[in-house]
Amino acid sequence: DSTLAELAQRHGRYFGSATDNPELTDGAYTALLGREFDQITPGNGMKWYATEPQQGVFDWSAGDEIVDLARANHQKVRGHTLVWHSQLPDWLTGRDWTADELRAVLKKHIQAEVRHYRGKVFAWDVVNEAFNEDGTYRETVFYNTLGPGYIADALRWAHEADPRVKLYLNDYNIEAVGPKSDAYYRLAKDLRAQGVPLHGIGLQTHLALQYGYPTTLEDNLRRFARLGLDTALTEVDVRMELPADETKLATQADWYRQLTEDCLAVRRCVGITLWDYTDKYSWIPGFFPGEGAALPWDEQLRPKPAYFAIREAL
Ligand code: XIL
Repeated sequence: DSTLAELAQRHGRYFGSATDNPELTDGAYTALLGREFDQITPGNGMKWYATEPQQGVFDWSAGDEIVDLARANHQKVRGHTLVWHSQLPDWLTGRDWTADELRAVLKKHIQAEVRHYRGKVFAWDVVNEAFNEDGTYRETVFYNTLGPGYIADALRWAHEADPRVKLYLNDYNIEAVGPKSDAYYRLAKDLRAQGVPLHGIGLQTHLALQYGYPTTLEDNLRRFARLGLDTALTEVDVRMELPADETKLATQADWYRQLTEDCLAVRRCVGITLWDYTDKYSWIPGFFPGEGAALPWDEQLRPKPAYFAIREAL
């Protein structure tokens, strides 16, 4: 039987999953990960706290382990993520920085990491979660110290370190047309007009049954395509209030079908990545108490209705 990756490839797309280092000792898990997908994203291994635990001291071991696994399985890798307000090392958050100091710290981090993974990742989430829900800039240490220009700087520095890698801005709750995705649309248009190297917008696509399906997803993907940008669904899961039941799992399957169709409908939507593929390793129960069952495979690695719905859509 064909895999999700093979089905996606017929449309010129990839179908991927996030994975995380501690899970790689689970043989049944890694076997399915290696077979079903042609793209993986490290769930944590390339984040700042992992890669620069002491200022100027770099540790690539977690990210390298994912890259090596991908190579063994002929999968491509999305780099995630260079600049984010969350999961920063203590040395960075534990003190104040002048703008000049922080600019130097940021440039060094970005360029060291992009250089290290040059030729090994095809895309980077350069800045993650830069906006609030109302479309204003999120007041992170980077924004507060450097102003909004940190985004263009980060893109330019990354491009300098690897002129071939695709550079993305990535966020959640930007699947539908609305204030937050409008902010990305305006910023992307602006950056492109200024010649800043930006190649794509990553829509995390952490959906929740209780909030409704983002019915304007396809239109939203299209407007970014019209700016000359790629898009990708980068961290897909569809959570529900537990316990799961047949009705919720059927609705979930329908949403997975729809998001797959929405991506396939827009040529510039280059691929879909699940935020891990099995409920066994989903981040949802740990972050949204009472919610879960968000992925297409259950905790026993058995395919759920969502898996069959994705297959039908591909
Ligand atoms: C999550 C990881 O899956 C967890 O293991 C970690 O504890 C917290 O971060 N948006 C992102 C991802 O961009 O990096 C987050 O990943 C999930 C939300």
